[in-house]
Amino acid sequence: MSARPQVELLGLEGLVKRYRVATGFLGTRKRWLTAVDGVSLSVRRGEVLGLVGESGCGKSTLARLALGLEAPSAGRVFFAGQEVSGLDRRGWRRLRRRMQIVFQDPMNSLNPRMTVGAILAEPFLIHGVVGRREVGERVARLLREVGLRPEHARRYPHQFSGGQRQRIGIARALALRPQLVVADEPVSALDVSVQAQVLNLLMELKESFRLTYLFVAHDLAVVRHISDRIAVMYLGRIVEVAPAAVFDRPPMHPYTAALLAAAPVPDPRRSLSVPPVGGEVASPLDPPPGCRFHPRCPEAEDICRLAAPPLKQIGPDHLCACHLR
Ligand SMILES: Nc1ncnc2c1ncn2[C@@H]1O[C@H](COP(=O)(O)OP(=O)(O)OP(=O)(O)O)[C@@H](O)[C@H]1O
Ligand SMILES: [Mg+2]
Repeated sequence: MSARPQVELLGLEGLVKRYRVATGFLGTRKRWLTAVDGVSLSVRRGEVLGLVGESGCGKSTLARLALGLEAPSAGRVFFAGQEVSGLDRRGWRRLRRRMQIVFQDPMNSLNPRMTVGAILAEPFLIHGVVGRREVGERVARLLREVGLRPEHARRYPHQFSGGQRQRIGIARALALRPQLVVADEPVSALDVSVQAQVLNLLMELKESFRLTYLFVAHDLAVVRHISDRIAVMYLGRIVEVAPAAVFDRPPMHPYTAALLAAAPVPDPRRSLSVPPVGGEVASPLDPPPGCRFHPRCPEAEDICRLAAPPLKQIGPDHLCACHLR
């Protein structure tokens, strides 16, 4: 086993995930799609690591691999210094108390036929961590912690607003007091007016319970303010990882610059003089050779079409995969 740095809580090493997919007019042709293509990334204890990238770049797949919800085609996962990628079902079940996920759409992730009380009691009962008599108390406490009321335990998910439902999703994730929370676009499905409230709640809970977050979003504007570091993903690969402050000024990866240009700018004096990202993302079924971003990159040169740039250090704690940086 490779020695992992002390500060690391979650370590991903060379992760690859390929899916066999049906293509062609009748869906009879089978091809391999590489959703995650050699990702190495560390999430440090106590930090918020934002993971951003356009739809389909592999963020959710990476999140599922990190939590053992799917097995990688190659690569390894470490948690608290231990390799966990080889664990069996029982091992993962035990580990799942320490790492939890908040999904994008609480409507799909909460069972509509169960009361909120039953939904929140489930983790306690499955893992047998508290006696049956205590469960009611723990559920009431969880509801208060996420800004709901104990009486809400009797209601069903559809009787809540989107923001309240996401609070229930968060309460369920926190039930067993995990160390790591993977939040997969936790506010994307919510009204803009509610997004900030849910984000604030997540940040308060992080402080109260000393959590570590891997926070997935397609919108760089959402993660910039809450992340300690940000990782940018493009077509299955990490193209940049750096402290959030680095994203305030160049130099950065041309794709990151394009994402920033597309995001609403809080400070109108800030100008990056970069055109918003044009063109379409290539399909992970047919990724372009060389740098995967080169067909859309305003700065692309010959080398970019030929060789994939490695993720290399270009500043303090700043990794970037670009031949021109
Ligand atoms: N179970 C699966 N079978 C086949 N292909 C899949 C599967 N899951 C994901 N993919 C494909 O892998 C690629 C990455 O998908 P993924 O859902 O990880 O992207 P994402 O970055 O989370 O996108 P979004 O922002 O839309 O949530 C996509 O091309 C997707 O179609
Ligand atoms: Mg996703």
